[in-house]
Amino acid sequence: MGRRGEFNLEEEPGRKGNGIYCSQGVLVFTVLTVCVLIAATSLMTYYIPLSLKDDGVATKAPAAWTDAPTNKPMATDPPAEPTTTPPSDLMRGRLPKTVLPRRYEVNLRPFLYDDDVPDSKMGERFTFDGWVRIKVECIEPRDEITLHSKNITIHGMPTVLSVSTLDKTDLFESYKMVEEYAFMILKLKQMMKPHQEYDIYMQYSGILGDDEAGFYPDMYLDRFNNTRYIATTQMEGPYARRVLPCFDEPTFKASYDVQLEHRNDMQALSNGIETKHIRLDGHWSRTYFERVPSVPTYLLAFVVHDFSSINVTNANGCLIRVWCQPDLIHLAPYALNVSDRVQTYFDDYLGSEYPLAKLDHIAVPSEVAMENWGLIIYEDSYLLYGLQALYGEAYCSETITHELAHMWFGNLVTMEWWDDLWLNEGFATYMEHIGVDHVHPEFNKFQSFYNDITEGALAIDSLGTFPAIRAPVYADDDDISNAFSFVTYYKGGSLLYMMEHFLTIEVFNQGVKNYLKERAYKNANAEHLWHELTYADRDVGKHDVKKIMDTWTLQRGYPLITLTRTGNSIVATQRIFLQINKTIEDDGFGDLGYKWYVPLTYVYESGPGDQYEKPQQVWMEPSDDYTYFDLPDDAKADDWYLANAKMTGFYRVNYEDDNWQRLLDQAAMDPDVFSEENKVGLIKDSFNLAKTEVVPMSYYRSFSESLRNNSRRTRRAAVSTSSYFAKMLDTKTNIKRRSAVQTYAQSLVEPLYMESGWDESFVPDLPAASVRRGKSSRFDITSIACRYGNRHCITKATDMYKEYMNDPTYNTIPDNFRTTVYCNGIRFGGESEWDFAFDMLRTGDDRHERARWASALTCSVDASLLQSYLQLMMDSTTFSRRDVELILMGVAENPDGCAVAWDFLRDNWDAISTM
Ligand SMILES: *[C@@H]1O[C@H](CO)[C@@H](O)[C@H](O)[C@H]1NC(C)=O
Ligand SMILES: *[C@@H]1O[C@H](CO)[C@@H](O)[C@H](O)[C@H]1NC(C)=O
Ligand SMILES: *[C@@H]1O[C@H](CO)[C@@H](O)[C@H](O)[C@H]1NC(C)=O
Ligand SMILES: *[C@@H]1O[C@H](CO)[C@@H](O)[C@H](O)[C@H]1NC(C)=O
Ligand SMILES: *[C@@H]1O[C@H](CO)[C@@H](O)[C@H](O)[C@H]1NC(C)=O
Ligand SMILES: *[C@@H]1O[C@H](CO)[C@@H](O)[C@H](O)[C@H]1NC(C)=O
Repeated sequence: MGRRGEFNLEEEPGRKGNGIYCSQGVLVFTVLTVCVLIAATSLMTYYIPLSLKDDGVATKAPAAWTDAPTNKPMATDPPAEPTTTPPSDLMRGRLPKTVLPRRYEVNLRPFLYDDDVPDSKMGERFTFDGWVRIKVECIEPRDEITLHSKNITIHGMPTVLSVSTLDKTDLFESYKMVEEYAFMILKLKQMMKPHQEYDIYMQYSGILGDDEAGFYPDMYLDRFNNTRYIATTQMEGPYARRVLPCFDEPTFKASYDVQLEHRNDMQALSNGIETKHIRLDGHWSRTYFERVPSVPTYLLAFVVHDFSSINVTNANGCLIRVWCQPDLIHLAPYALNVSDRVQTYFDDYLGSEYPLAKLDHIAVPSEVAMENWGLIIYEDSYLLYGLQALYGEAYCSETITHELAHMWFGNLVTMEWWDDLWLNEGFATYMEHIGVDHVHPEFNKFQSFYNDITEGALAIDSLGTFPAIRAPVYADDDDISNAFSFVTYYKGGSLLYMMEHFLTIEVFNQGVKNYLKERAYKNANAEHLWHELTYADRDVGKHDVKKIMDTWTLQRGYPLITLTRTGNSIVATQRIFLQINKTIEDDGFGDLGYKWYVPLTYVYESGPGDQYEKPQQVWMEPSDDYTYFDLPDDAKADDWYLANAKMTGFYRVNYEDDNWQRLLDQAAMDPDVFSEENKVGLIKDSFNLAKTEVVPMSYYRSFSESLRNNSRRTRRAAVSTSSYFAKMLDTKTNIKRRSAVQTYAQSLVEPLYMESGWDESFVPDLPAASVRRGKSSRFDITSIACRYGNRHCITKATDMYKEYMNDPTYNTIPDNFRTTVYCNGIRFGGESEWDFAFDMLRTGDDRHERARWASALTCSVDASLLQSYLQLMMDSTTFSRRDVELILMGVAENPDGCAVAWDFLRDNWDAISTM
């Protein structure tokens, strides 16, 4: 799936016009985290402003916070062997492997319009009728077959026939449902025989649900403002069971022969290419699709639609099509171009050609980005560049690349179970910069990997609250959807990036190619990947990849490396780095005492010219309390040294004061001797270490000061770290400190604001060459400037808001700035501004606009308004489940709303958890 629930702790509240979709567990966790961090930030306000004025002196922290971050989470036991032995009840609710599905034949007919209904067995619109024939192979003799089925009505009785013998008596006796696991258990009249095949057949009806899971209806307005319906699917996590009775776990791969029945004025798409189309009667047609081999249920896709398409046949003979509603087809060429070029590039890069005859990309209105094999389904604004100003080329090409990478990582080679979901999502995240760099070299994606991916993972993973990326996942909907966490995507991607560097890209790519070849059309777990990488490295670095990577994948968190130099000798130690004082929970696969095998790289002042490409490297081992190494002989006594070359390692680094001072001096004198990544790294590391009291805040302040004018990326790093402090500007307890912080924060943001200000087409985080081409970025300087109290910004935003309020018939506010304008209009407005916004939310029918209003309303500083907003949100006739998430998160991220959100969540837990 595309990245979901993105939330960046350093980003601005109210920024997420849309895009948050997370399970209840993640929602609660996020609200809690945001609140804790805001509380922590407020604590810090007691000393940050002082250190801003007070050069170089470490400031005393408030007592309550002093020893927090240095606490070790666990006793320093000797590192244990990692155990991948799952907890004993982990197989609860899992399918037995006594029979395996080999081939499905499935036929579905959705009822979307009133005049379809007379033919429906349920006599209702938004249902579908279907039948399925599943050929299964018996592995162990049993007289029952267990499969999944949910919200499906079986018509008549299933039949079970033996395929292998001539005896055609029906073996079916009865069936029962086990609701807790969505199991359907077929009881047979006799035992099945091993290696024999059986044929299960059922007729049934299902629901086109309203929660965007399984088979569901979606709608759009055509050119004449008529409402049009399509039917589309989202099977991942475990939703295929709502569409057909099936073995709905990722290892149960099988081939599929699909038929879809639809109105004569509609068409159908599925994983395979259309092979035949027949007209059944005056109303219905049937389309047949080519058989697709070895598909796990979560990658099935069925779409019935009335869209248009453009196509190209790529250099390797694969038909690529982009589909969308007819009025938007002029926006499709960019997606066709990118998907065409990235796909052939991956064919070559991964040494394995995309195997299906076609690959469709289709844009639907609902929020999805799902890599179904042969038929990728996207929310329209992700695929169609130019549809929404918020998403520029960078975003669209990233999303397309991410989903394309899944054609190999996930589709060709599928994880065995959701506990190795990172093999899908980590690789897809990792491959983004490779695909985007191919089509947009001007974006310099390689240089951004640390900033865009690793740093986000480091920030979240230092909370110690997300499970390790390989942790037990139980067979229930919530547990499975919780596996789709930020950490799975971003830490997964970052660890692959780190491996690429310690193994070398040649070895890494060879290992990955072998992994794809060995596991093609099969399933894999991390052990398979470790094996192939170790094998590829056998004559090169001879690393034991499993031993190293178990420490990173089975434990949550990551190390802070502390380096101390005496003469030319350095001693290195490690301990887990946490932002909040908490005891880490064991994730159930065992831990290693929270110590890691660390590929510690470094460069030094007199080092060779190519040292960032070929840095010095030392391995730190979990069993060693201290790791000793010497700087190379040509290092001078007063050289600085800098660890984590190009920030490819998943750790943070602290030094002895002398070295910090030398790095500070170098940054002030000539920062360009550092790599671009390391410049950003110095700002981010010193910031995070200062937040947790490991180094004085003055280090961060000086790096940020020296480096902020150096490049767009360093300026962005300086601004985004400072936005952390901006959160306290709003809290009423800190009025006294406000002006010092505000002055400082404004001085950081002003140059960027002056440069881009309200220029609609400005893209601050892209290189100059492409600035005018893209439309926007997720890093919004205007909103930050307003946040920091920039008078010009606030005046302009509130004026625009007033103007719109005076004449709501025509909205002249540029798309890019609507979120900022609405948010500030409400923040600095009173009840009438709030009422206006609420009206717009209730009456508007543009979903992007609706989402903007929904989140802007959370910007109010009036706790009672926020409280009543949360109450109103529970009205399900006006607000969807997605709105609820957006609003709760928005209120939680608002410093004046955090407590309100938390209280509300607690008081209304039952209602929210059953939504
Ligand atoms: C941090 O956690 C430890 C163990 O739970 C506790 O003893 C200590 O008091 C906590 N420190 C703070 C500052 O809360
Ligand atoms: C689907 O089935 C579950 C029980 O498995 C039930 O609680 C729920 O109401 C059903 N949903 C619909 C829309 O029928
Ligand atoms: C469709 O609705 C929009 C906004 O409600 C309106 O501006 C437009 O003129 C309508 N188009 C037609 C063809 O009625
Ligand atoms: C591809 O597009 C052309 C028009 O550009 C059209 O004639 C052709 O039928 C399309 N092919 C497919 C397979 O959709
Ligand atoms: C894709 O876009 C690139 C760059 O704009 C262009 O050179 C190329 O011809 C396009 N390819 C296709 C197939 O449209
Ligand atoms: C950075 O730029 C700002 C404004 O352009 C300027 O005021 C400041 O002095 C510069 N800082 C450094 C360290 O050059």
